[in-house]
Amino acid sequence: MTAKYSLSMVATLAAWVFLGSVTAQADEAAAPAGDPARGAKLAYTCLGCHAVADYRTAYPEVYHVPKLGGQHNEYLISALSEYRSGARPHSTMRGQAHDMTDAMIRDIAAYFSAGTPLKAGPVVGTAPKVVETCQACHGPDGVGILPEYPNLAGQHNDYIVQALKAYRKGARQNAIMQGMAAALTDEDITAAAKYFSSQKPGLWVPSLPHN
Ligand code: HEC
Ligand code: HEC
Repeated sequence: MTAKYSLSMVATLAAWVFLGSVTAQADEAAAPAGDPARGAKLAYTCLGCHAVADYRTAYPEVYHVPKLGGQHNEYLISALSEYRSGARPHSTMRGQAHDMTDAMIRDIAAYFSAGTPLKAGPVVGTAPKVVETCQACHGPDGVGILPEYPNLAGQHNDYIVQALKAYRKGARQNAIMQGMAAALTDEDITAAAKYFSSQKPGLWVPSLPHN
């Protein structure tokens, strides 16, 4: 019974988010698409962290800087907007985003999401029970089923752990993910991060331009 309830809850949430995204798309109909070439120039300073394979941030805790290559455009726009508004607390990223205009955010998102969309292969390993709920949005293989749902395939394990703990304690404010993370134990978080970070092919570290 519990399982049934939580599944229907997920379906309701997914439908709600889907409707939200349709409305958002209608609202954004007037917004021009981002320009990846302008984005490349704006993203130059970002690459000092985001294009360095295996780069870890030391503050507030040690974990890998997230992989942005192959991430969804719409999700990148909302992530950057959340650092700008303070809904995500990370101080470095707030500093990076605080004076970005909507147009800059769209250009940067277009740059990092350019190229062939991520398409993960057959599922690697067996999904632990806790992951079944997540798959409704993040896909069986960690490729988000809608562009608003981040791709998790191949993302750094320790970054996924950090993000889930931030939602759980309410430091990252997002209605959907705070709800999803609230009930997770540390073991659930470890299992989910291990599963999604092992999916292949996955997100990648964008390379530094050679000029
Ligand atoms: C000093 C290193 C550093 C620099 C420079 C930096 N970032 Fe970040 N970035 C991080 C870290 C660390 C995180 C993870 C923050 C968190 O835990 O929320 C992050 C997170 C992000 C995310 C969220 C990814 C996700 O999966 O949700 C995006 C998008 C992003 N950065 C884009 C940028 C852009 C665009 C720039 C340049 C304008 C930039 N970053 C500059 C370190 C950096
Ligand atoms: C109803 C859809 C939905 C479900 C179910 C869901 N998520 Fe999410 N998830 C989202 C959305 C939307 C975001 C972006 C939130 C934001 O903007 O911070 C997200 C963000 C995340 C992130 C942050 C990614 C990043 O790059 O920073 C992680 C990690 C994550 N989810 C893991 C999970 C796990 C694990 C579960 C299952 C326990 C789960 N999600 C269930 C929709 C969902």
